[in-house]
Amino acid sequence: MTHTTVPPSGGELSSSGMPSPSPEPGREAPALEVAGIFKSFSQRGRSLPVLEQVSLTVKRQEFVSIVGPSGCGKSTLFQIIGGLIKPDEGAVRMNGAPATGQRGSVSYMPQQPALLPWRSIEDNVILARELKGAARGEAREEARRWLAKAGLGGFEKAYPHMLSGGMQQRAAFLRALLAPQELMLLDEPFSALDALTRSEMQRWLLELWEENRRSVLFITHSIEEALLLSSRIYVFSGRPGTVLHTVEVPFPRPRREEMTEHPEFLRLKRQLSGWMREEQAKGGALR
Ligand SMILES: Nc1ncnc2c1ncn2[C@@H]1O[C@H](COP(=O)(O)OP(=O)(O)OP(=O)(O)O)[C@@H](O)[C@H]1O
Ligand SMILES: [Mg+2]
Repeated sequence: MTHTTVPPSGGELSSSGMPSPSPEPGREAPALEVAGIFKSFSQRGRSLPVLEQVSLTVKRQEFVSIVGPSGCGKSTLFQIIGGLIKPDEGAVRMNGAPATGQRGSVSYMPQQPALLPWRSIEDNVILARELKGAARGEAREEARRWLAKAGLGGFEKAYPHMLSGGMQQRAAFLRALLAPQELMLLDEPFSALDALTRSEMQRWLLELWEENRRSVLFITHSIEEALLLSSRIYVFSGRPGTVLHTVEVPFPRPRREEMTEHPEFLRLKRQLSGWMREEQAKGGALR
């Protein structure tokens, strides 16, 4: 197993090319630390190792992505962080405190947007706030503003089955966004969207996040999306998933789409694509 960090400790470059001061004092405990996670499932009477020695960190207010082949355990890792399943070994810590198996500490958008079919779209969007005791009326008002921004104006009172897959995904994304927890786990939030809507949502998320930084761990299959949004990218191996490479993305913020034409962006994109191809080739494309 090789661990590569690229660049070694570059930090973010400011627009003048000088390292910019870290937005965090640095002594603070990270929002999330995942340490030495192992997980196997039993399938057809056999043990299937899915995650092996996975360790990663999301500092406070950092945007971090995971890319890796299909089936390498990314969603499983999110379920472990969200406390929905227990790891066989290893620990999860949030803000320095033990959080293994603990539910309710993260805002989690699962890969299959699980909207509650009996609640209207706006009532789905305000769910997490309501669970934390927010007043319904106020939460709904805010939800309506966001629904309009996400192109869902007019669908506030609709039920999930009346929306397309992409629209449901946007509603589920808003629900995660409006949840009060500081750490957000987003599992391929834009995968069901067409290319144009996807790039609009990326731009929107980028602006939003730059305005009001949350700690985010983001799963995507799009290398370009990961580079555009993240400060750091963890590249996972094929199953059993482990961190093969850690890439620090050195572009200043605010980031704009023009950066996708920057030679360094293109270099990183080539490098990451190469690693992903290698991993996919090792395991066969699907397994
Ligand atoms: N509850 C479960 N019981 C048994 N096996 C499971 C369970 N959940 C996941 N798996 C297996 O674990 C492996 C990893 O699944 P996971 O959903 O974490 O992959 P992933 O990296 O998110 O893939 P994708 O990119 O396709 O979403 C798969 O082989 C899957 O079949
Ligand atoms: Mg998944």
